[in-house]
Amino acid sequence: MSNPYIEAFEKSINDPEAFWGEIAEDCHWYKKWDKVLDDSNKPFYRWFVGGECNTCYNALDLHVENGRGDQAALIYDSPVTNTIKKYTFSELKDEVAKFAGVLKGLGVGKGDRVIIYMPMIPQSVIAMLACARIGAIHSVVFGGFAAKELATRINDAKPKVIVTASCGIEVKRIIPYKPLLDGAIEMAAFKPDKCVIFQRPMETASMIEGRDVDWDEAVKDAKPADCVPVAATDPLYILYTSGTTGKPKGVVRDNGGHMVALKWTMKAIYNVDAGDTYWAASDVGWVVGHSYIVYGPLLKGCTTIVFEGKPVGTPDAGVFWRVISEHKVKALFTAPTAFRAIKREDSKAQLMKDYDLSQFNALFLAGERLDPDTLHWAEKSLNVPVIDHWWQTETGWAICANCLGLHHYPVKQGSPTKPAPGWNVQVVDENNQLVKAGEIGALVVKLPLPPGSLPTLWKNDEGFKEAYLNEFPGYYKTADAGFIDEDGYVFVMTRTDDIINVAGHRLSTGGMEEILADHPDVAECAVLGVEDQLKGQVPVGFLVLNAGVDRSVDDIIKEAVQMVRDRIGAVASFKKATVVKRLPKTRSGKILRGTIQKIADKKEYAVPATIDDPEILNEMEEAVQKIGYGKARS
Ligand code: COA
Ligand code: AMP
Repeated sequence: MSNPYIEAFEKSINDPEAFWGEIAEDCHWYKKWDKVLDDSNKPFYRWFVGGECNTCYNALDLHVENGRGDQAALIYDSPVTNTIKKYTFSELKDEVAKFAGVLKGLGVGKGDRVIIYMPMIPQSVIAMLACARIGAIHSVVFGGFAAKELATRINDAKPKVIVTASCGIEVKRIIPYKPLLDGAIEMAAFKPDKCVIFQRPMETASMIEGRDVDWDEAVKDAKPADCVPVAATDPLYILYTSGTTGKPKGVVRDNGGHMVALKWTMKAIYNVDAGDTYWAASDVGWVVGHSYIVYGPLLKGCTTIVFEGKPVGTPDAGVFWRVISEHKVKALFTAPTAFRAIKREDSKAQLMKDYDLSQFNALFLAGERLDPDTLHWAEKSLNVPVIDHWWQTETGWAICANCLGLHHYPVKQGSPTKPAPGWNVQVVDENNQLVKAGEIGALVVKLPLPPGSLPTLWKNDEGFKEAYLNEFPGYYKTADAGFIDEDGYVFVMTRTDDIINVAGHRLSTGGMEEILADHPDVAECAVLGVEDQLKGQVPVGFLVLNAGVDRSVDDIIKEAVQMVRDRIGAVASFKKATVVKRLPKTRSGKILRGTIQKIADKKEYAVPATIDDPEILNEMEEAVQKIGYGKARS
């Protein structure tokens, strides 16, 4: 029997131009598009070609003009600084226009890049929207990344200006950002013209004469800037994400398709309307933050929340319930790891009893596989639909979801339900042939991808094809493996590359291996994502030392751990490594990562037929047990 989801899905696949063309009418356009979908340069596709729009105008000015000026647009709730501050749509528009004026005054114009390296404060959102207002391209770098990661992004994006704050706050710890920024600029081959620094009261950053500009000073004298029409196909932002090497991939997002798709998802997927409060408990440095702290809710006219805190410890495991109740949150989006952290501290959800959650309608989880325990605990404690949805930095919004605003399907544990409209998800084998229902294979999406997904990688069309399009011609490779069952439910099982998800943060183990291999005493190494009760996965390193090294093994491990922290950042959560005599390999010399992984994850495994020397597996079992993991062979 048909339902609004089936109707929307079928139309989106059979007639994408009609489907998205109608949806696009909900946005403001300076000039309508000439063509909804341009497929004249396959495998590249462009949406709303010929159209002109401004994403910031649609997120702010339009609502002010339509009478929402006095409604809260953004609530900054910061338990770490004991602050709650609200901005109405009018106030946020004025702040954004002023900061856009600052950027203009610093010479930033259409197409110029601005890197934003900021904690979870309203100024981060203001800076992003200010870029959008004047057609500049922002690239937000997560505050937990180290200077080296920032330097890599500076070299690739070549920003005219970098915007930062004097510090971030991790529970009670002040993290000064300015030394990281200065270090990154020192390391980078490309140098920005200017840096704008937002000074926070708990840490004053020292300024470099001639290069650094004080946010408050600059805003005081700034002339507000108006929205600039940009082509629908012009980039709105670049967001770097882990690839299969230490070099991150610059995911590009356009203006038109992104604006159309995200606004529509607010009702179709999350079932919220203009005027509702929507909260994504993530960070503006991740894609979830871009799409659902900033753009989605504001485009829809919702109130969004910028939360500077953690699910536990700021001050306790009841903070999520306090925020939901105090700001009348209708839908919350976070990662399962946040709920695991809460459940660990308050397993009976006692702290929930102190709050009125009667207006709360649904919980959305993504970023990693949703484990059954967390799903059931959340369902039981909250008594609202708990919706697992699958997406990636590249896709910008959910590939699969139980689309609450269209039709709510029964939940199948372990499945993010069905492809969202626009996503023609298939499962193929290594020969690019469709497999039968229930059979595991590569999860791919038939081209074209819907609006809002990445049109390419920043200045790297070839890299885009190589990473996503070449392996399965005609499809986008998600690099996730899984299956679709008889009822059309999609199950996402595992990545097919070296990406791991640590507390919902995406990291490349290959990138960590590159760093460890730089240690003078390390001959070779393997880093694997091992199962972790709180974070889902954590990286663990296995190091083989050079012959003749007679230094303390503990010292070498400490140095190795510190190297990853220094170069990637604390967010890598790389805390455990062990020294082994050798790594298990095939006869052709390939490291048997899958086998090490199974040993560490306490999974049954068979001795691989291609193994060079089966004896080594005993050594590996001992090594993983030494660091607290492990299991005997079947
Ligand atoms: N700036 C500087 N450092 C940061 C940082 C930031 N923005 N974010 C995290 N870090 C640091 C942490 O302080 C921690 O440092 P430590 O090793 O010295 O303790 C390290 O990076 C790891 O951080 P995290 O993975 O967040 O672990 P945690 O133990 O501090 O918290 C959770 C665990 C589960 C509570 C936390 O990860 C969380 O709230 N996750 C929510 C999910 C989420 O936001 N996902 C994003 C995608 S939806
Ligand atoms: P990121 O780009 O950080 O959003 O990470 C994307 C990856 O996270 C995906 O390719 C998946 O491997 C994983 N992921 C995201 N959401 C889910 C989900 N709901 N279920 C299983 N895995 C997920």
